[in-house]
Amino acid sequence: MNEILVQTDHVKKYFPLKGSLSKKKARSVKAVDDITLSIRKGETLGLVGESGSGKTTLSRILLGLLPPTQGKVLINGKDIYAPANRAERHRSVGAVFQDPASSLNPRATIYRSLERPLRINGYDAKDARELILETAEKVNIGRELLDRFPHELSGGQQQRVSIARAIMLKPQLVILDEPTSALDVSVQAQTLNELLNLQQEFGLTYLFITHNLSVVRYMSDRICVMYGGRLMEMGSTQDVYERHLHPYTAGLLSSVPPLNPAQRSRKRYLLSGDMPSLIDAPAGCRFCSRCRFARPECAGEMPQLHDVGGGHLVECPYALELEGQ
Ligand SMILES: Nc1ncnc2c1ncn2[C@@H]1O[C@H](COP(=O)(O)OP(=O)(O)OP(=O)(O)O)[C@@H](O)[C@H]1O
Ligand code: SF4
Ligand SMILES: [Mg+2]
Repeated sequence: MNEILVQTDHVKKYFPLKGSLSKKKARSVKAVDDITLSIRKGETLGLVGESGSGKTTLSRILLGLLPPTQGKVLINGKDIYAPANRAERHRSVGAVFQDPASSLNPRATIYRSLERPLRINGYDAKDARELILETAEKVNIGRELLDRFPHELSGGQQQRVSIARAIMLKPQLVILDEPTSALDVSVQAQTLNELLNLQQEFGLTYLFITHNLSVVRYMSDRICVMYGGRLMEMGSTQDVYERHLHPYTAGLLSSVPPLNPAQRSRKRYLLSGDMPSLIDAPAGCRFCSRCRFARPECAGEMPQLHDVGGGHLVECPYALELEGQ
């Protein structure tokens, strides 16, 4: 599982603010600010962080829908925004979003919704039909559902259709952005297990985005913690949950009980306040305004991710010193 499938190289997305008068004084929202990460073939990389931390923006960049302001995205070593790779760009990444109803055309039958991307990608009607029936079976969509319209399906069934559509063309990467948060709890667990089965069967690679910190622990091999457009911490699920070193991760995870009983005595504290505006975000650590360990130096230079051992990366330069506090 060590082969790299996706590599982002110092990716930034700054949204210019409307009404910025001169180019020199142009103001922008630093939604994604210098993200370098890799996703390995066959793994699930979990992406967590508070609302507005830049998760969806990063996923849209990986999907080929939003060109970065700076930096590169390589999938299988190819720059997906290079003009020569344009056609491949959309085939190599599939996506499932939170609200299945809004991602399906209400006026098209399920069959037509599944057929359209196949026809666009050159399948004739017969081959498309074969693939649709095969995929529908894999994701447990009964044939009788294919002639229905989205509103005639339950939320769980609609989400299975979205999953079928995302994996049909055998994408290299599947982005799952809050795929189960709109579903009933009972259907959530079933859908998550189905996603794990599909991953095994097709050797899929997942980027799994959620606010649900228990779900992400269940699903992911590695986890990235994002805050204010930056990566705060990244490592194996075990490292991030049981030996998180960044003060932001500690605050974020303080509401989740640890799996390992030895960790139960670990000091816990809740995050207070809100994420500050990302408009013209100041220099220095992004978490500075909410960090209870902040010191004057933290507002100076922007800290960088560094490896504290075994691929466990942390952005806070004082992480090891603060461990256990
Ligand atoms: N098209 C846009 N124009 C301007 N700002 C944007 C645009 N899209 C996103 N943003 C801003 O970028 C920041 C990151 O947004 P994003 O949707 O990526 O966050 P998120 O982590 O997915 O949040 P959530 O958990 O609520 O889905 C936010 O401040 C948001 O307002
Ligand atoms: S760099 Fe400073 S403000 Fe940022 S997390 Fe570390 S101690 Fe807190
Ligand atoms: Mg989002």
